Amino acid sequence: MKRFVKNILIGAALLLAGCSSEPQTGTDRKVEELLGQMTLREKVGQMNQLSGGAWLAETAAKGEVGSILNCVDPAEINAVQRAAVEESRLGIPILVSRDVIHGFRTIFPIPIGQAATFDPAIVEKGARIAAVEATASGVKWTFSPMLDIARDPRWGRVAEGAGEDPYLDVQMGVAMVKGYQGDDLNDPTSMAACIKHFVGYGAAEGGRDYNSTMISERSLRNTYFPAFKATAEAGAATLMTSFNEIDGIPSTGNRWLLKNILRDEWGWDGMVVTDWNSAGEMIAHGFSRDLKHTAEQAINAGVDMDMMSYGFIQYVEELVKEGKVSEKEIDRAVRNILKLKFDLGLFENPYVDETASAKVDYAPEHLEAAKQCALESAILLKNSNDVLPLDKAKTILVTGPLADAPYEQMGTWAFDGQQEHTVTPLEALREEYNVIWEPGLAYSRDRNTKDFAKVRSAASRADAAVVIVGEEAILSGEAHSLSNLDLQGAQSELIAEVAKAGKPVVVVVMAGRPLTIERDLENCDAMLYSFHPGTMGGPAIADLIKGKAVPSGKLPMTFLRDAGQAPFYYNHNNSGRPCNGTETLLNDIPIAAGQTSLGCTSYYLDTGYGPLFPFGYGLSYTTFKYGNPVLDKAEYGRSDVITVSFELKNTGDREGTEVAQLYVQDLVGSVVRPVKELKGFQRVTLAPGETRTVTFDLPVAELAFWNIDMEHVVEPGDFKLWVAGDSASGEPVGFAVL
Ligand code: BGC
Repeated sequence: MKRFVKNILIGAALLLAGCSSEPQTGTDRKVEELLGQMTLREKVGQMNQLSGGAWLAETAAKGEVGSILNCVDPAEINAVQRAAVEESRLGIPILVSRDVIHGFRTIFPIPIGQAATFDPAIVEKGARIAAVEATASGVKWTFSPMLDIARDPRWGRVAEGAGEDPYLDVQMGVAMVKGYQGDDLNDPTSMAACIKHFVGYGAAEGGRDYNSTMISERSLRNTYFPAFKATAEAGAATLMTSFNEIDGIPSTGNRWLLKNILRDEWGWDGMVVTDWNSAGEMIAHGFSRDLKHTAEQAINAGVDMDMMSYGFIQYVEELVKEGKVSEKEIDRAVRNILKLKFDLGLFENPYVDETASAKVDYAPEHLEAAKQCALESAILLKNSNDVLPLDKAKTILVTGPLADAPYEQMGTWAFDGQQEHTVTPLEALREEYNVIWEPGLAYSRDRNTKDFAKVRSAASRADAAVVIVGEEAILSGEAHSLSNLDLQGAQSELIAEVAKAGKPVVVVVMAGRPLTIERDLENCDAMLYSFHPGTMGGPAIADLIKGKAVPSGKLPMTFLRDAGQAPFYYNHNNSGRPCNGTETLLNDIPIAAGQTSLGCTSYYLDTGYGPLFPFGYGLSYTTFKYGNPVLDKAEYGRSDVITVSFELKNTGDREGTEVAQLYVQDLVGSVVRPVKELKGFQRVTLAPGETRTVTFDLPVAELAFWNIDMEHVVEPGDFKLWVAGDSASGEPVGFAVL
């Protein structure tokens, strides 16, 4: 009854608002009308996001919370919602949020693994499925996608993003936003996306989470902004500020980022939330005096909603009274929050059907898509003598701490995935082979080698050995930076031990980041890198090992020989002394050599210049030959489209899918330009012996960058272009932009 009366009041007011002369959309009108009825306390309540469930009902009834996170129990959600809708004065519904990062119940590969598919369609499908499952439990807002460019695998959160390349980041980010939000936010299965963490969080010094960053404005614009801008333009409903400071300014208090760039330059009209207590943490940064000061700085910088610092709810009324924060700023924030709630249809449908999730969680088509994504994301790094697929072996040894670890294989930020639904490689391989199972180690950090003799003897009884190693889920993700990226525990020793049996050794790595696996590669015949592959990782890996499917994943990050090489990325600028491949290495230096730097280039004496594997790398069970790229012209105007075609041939005897990649270099710029930049990719499936002409259309406008005058322009001049299966291959062709 109370709610009915409230709705009549709002309805009548809407009618009045309709008479105003200002042209407004229906939603804008509703927002203005509601805003007009709110007290300052109620407004601040909307700007407050708290973690919790049913116990927040009292707070909700007072209108002192606008959003909750970390509650996924539909009954609890409805209890808080009832308090907000039926007991608070204005009945404004609560927005329920959650970190749904790579699936809700059905867990897909971690985002870095999804990026390895180079397949935006499967990534979008994964996000759609996540939204269907999460909304069925009452979650209407996810804190995903994470768009942070990550060039340092020591940073644990590389697991959550698309890796080091801005172009791939854009494609993956846009796919996820589309998948989460669907065609219309108002659809019951749509949830709002949150592009995060704005910005530069992945550039933390030394890969240490939360650390300082020093990123120039040009580098922000050329490298770190593009995925945010593209997803903002694709309609991402919300954005999260980051924990880090850039050049001394924490993002949560950075007016230039949150107002000048986001609002004025990009014209984005979504809602901005802080990261967890990132407003409060501005005190530890030494940027704010106290909690009250943090609220003042965050709101004035452009933040709309405060996640868990409690600063807004405690101090905003005082700040307004003292004239330190204007009501105009508060209204701006509340408008953005209310608009999102209207757009999501929360006013019409605030409650979740408590029986809905049982009908959609782990639906067969969700599991099928998760398997497909895991299949496409596994990267074949080595395959000596075509040892894979193991299509003839009958009896195999399965060993390693990740072979039967249903919880670990889901990876980081898989809060709602239930391990009893995970299918492990051990289970799936048992469907294909006679399996001798010897775990060897109990978990990835285990150093106890007492069972190694048993493992070795089992290997000698098998036709081949499959060693599944990697990282426990907790070793990557937030706050899980590492300075040493070798396999943990005695896992490398386990691989070496198995190799002693002289049987073909296949290593599968399930990890949250690129590890330094050079010595492990030497001790195996084949290696598949699957990152943490999620609920259906087991069947996908079994299909790849058996040869029912062919690997097609490509590296979304450069793989290092040694963690000391980090940060290392393919699209770097050149030094004045680029490496030429003839450098003197540590052991070539004569004893008592005289001091000289002549002939020296930018490299390490011990690890050389190159990485272990370049960005974009990945083998198949077949081979592909790239013909020379042919351009439709030699010179282009700035509004032209470059059409590049080349023949791609499957030179092997089985069907396979190649991710053909297009790279460009701008040879001379008003500022130094990267040695190569990815500008396109296509997954091409070819039958044995088949040749196909592959075409890329590259608008010249996509060659624009932020130049010496901080203008986004295409500078005329000479360019090189490559088409290849990774970022280190192919012969360039030249073209000019006039
Ligand atoms: C993380 C965010 C996350 C938030 C809410 C923070 O610690 O940095 O990525 O969305 O918590 O759980």
